Amino acid sequence: MATISEGCRGIELVFGGRRVLTEKEKLDSLTRLGVELNQINDLDILMERVLTRARQFVNADAGSIYIRDRQWLHFSYTQNETLQNKLPRGEKLVYSTFRIPIDEKSIAGYVAATGQALNIPDVYKLEPTLPYKFSKRFDQTAGYRTVSILTVPLTIATGDILGILQIINAQDENGRITTFTKADEQMMFHFAGIAAVALERAQMTRALILRMIRMAEMRDPKETGAHVNRVAGFSVEIYEQWALKRQLSQKEIDKSRDILRMAAMLHDVGKVATSDVILKKPDRLSDDEYQIMKQHTIQGARLFENRQSDFDEAAGIVALNHHERWDGTGYPGHVDPVTGLALKGFELPNGGARGKKGKEIPLFGRIVALADVFDALSSRRSYKEPWDESKILKQIEMEAGRHFDPELVEIFFNRLDVIRSIQARYNEEDE
Ligand code: C2E
Ligand code: SIN
Ligand code: SIN
Ligand code: SIN
Ligand code: FE
Ligand code: FE
Repeated sequence: MATISEGCRGIELVFGGRRVLTEKEKLDSLTRLGVELNQINDLDILMERVLTRARQFVNADAGSIYIRDRQWLHFSYTQNETLQNKLPRGEKLVYSTFRIPIDEKSIAGYVAATGQALNIPDVYKLEPTLPYKFSKRFDQTAGYRTVSILTVPLTIATGDILGILQIINAQDENGRITTFTKADEQMMFHFAGIAAVALERAQMTRALILRMIRMAEMRDPKETGAHVNRVAGFSVEIYEQWALKRQLSQKEIDKSRDILRMAAMLHDVGKVATSDVILKKPDRLSDDEYQIMKQHTIQGARLFENRQSDFDEAAGIVALNHHERWDGTGYPGHVDPVTGLALKGFELPNGGARGKKGKEIPLFGRIVALADVFDALSSRRSYKEPWDESKILKQIEMEAGRHFDPELVEIFFNRLDVIRSIQARYNEEDE
């Protein structure tokens, strides 16, 4: 019977545990699904929600999403309630990412190649004459027994296949593994149509952001892919440790990681508005030139002023705040990013704005400040040679409480081996 206890919270009552939805509830949920999914902009969060909802609709124990990239299917996201429940609270399922060719030899590949859904009652009892085989690799490494699999294509309006959705091990109301019904098939067919539209939109958003990053790179040769990847990698690592210390939920951490990663990559995107003469000057900047250069913070924030998503907000915050200093002597200070003028009460006699100080600087700004300077000092610039690591570390230590948030500097030193591995992974020479 239903395992829902009294006093369960709100929506969990309908969606949680093993309770099988009534037909009426399924129809209502399907109607709400499009609205719900279209509010999510981040691709990873969207995949998570799609799988959670898909599993609820047909009461399945596990599921995976594969996303197509040309002739390949990338295993992109997975959930498994049985395996999840064996883990200590708060821990994530670790799964390897892999890709399989789109051909008729695997179940997922077959569905992507033919566009036809497959409803398999027991994958260990497939007719040997069928073109596709079940790969036991996952079951063997995970200690799981896959039985029934329902696989549907994620097809967009053009008829193109964006990926496939695979739902595993249907359960009856007693939690016993059973097969997927014809009604389940139909339900998932409609479900996949709604999910595909939302997934395509999130993919386009991500692709646009990546294009924006590449444009910024073309404009400023120093902002290479390697540099922005390193700054983003350091930032995400520092954030994650900061968040773990505060016992934020893994869900919240994952969401912020992804947003911060892209926002950090765009920290200097405002430099697209800086003239080449200044941007590419092979020498120290004059005072006037430096004043113009500093505008890249405000120019960047302006690009994200029309906020459509959490990502826009984070990117605006990072662009605006990555040159503030913990001691209040950074720039641009308390300004309105639209006008670039000092906010009321923060005007300085010289027409500038008072710098933000300490925790007046948003967390993401404080994190990227540290990541950016560490990388700038480690790198060759048109105006300077790279510094030795020992000199850089001394500088960062000295700047704790001056340029940088001391708590973040402590995290940085605690995670120095991870920071170094990110540095090695995105090495300029390998580009
Ligand atoms: P960037 O090169 O990415 O440097 C980012 C930040 O790293 C700098 O912010 C600064 O805080 C730190 N940093 C970089 N190089 C050094 C250094 O040699 N010594 C020390 N102590 N810190 C360093 P900042 O100063 O606000 O500069 C922002 C951006 O302005 C720089 O980004 C760079 O694009 C440009 N810039 C700054 N100074 C010069 C310069 O003398 N010549 C040229 N051509 N560009 C400069
Ligand atoms: C990544 O997310 O791929 C890089 C950052 C990290 O290694 O934590
Ligand atoms: C922003 O509004 O873009 C950043 C928040 C702040 O200025 O404190
Ligand atoms: C902090 O500033 O330490 C927490 C608030 C934030 O997210 O900026
Ligand atoms: Fe900058
Ligand atoms: Fe930079």
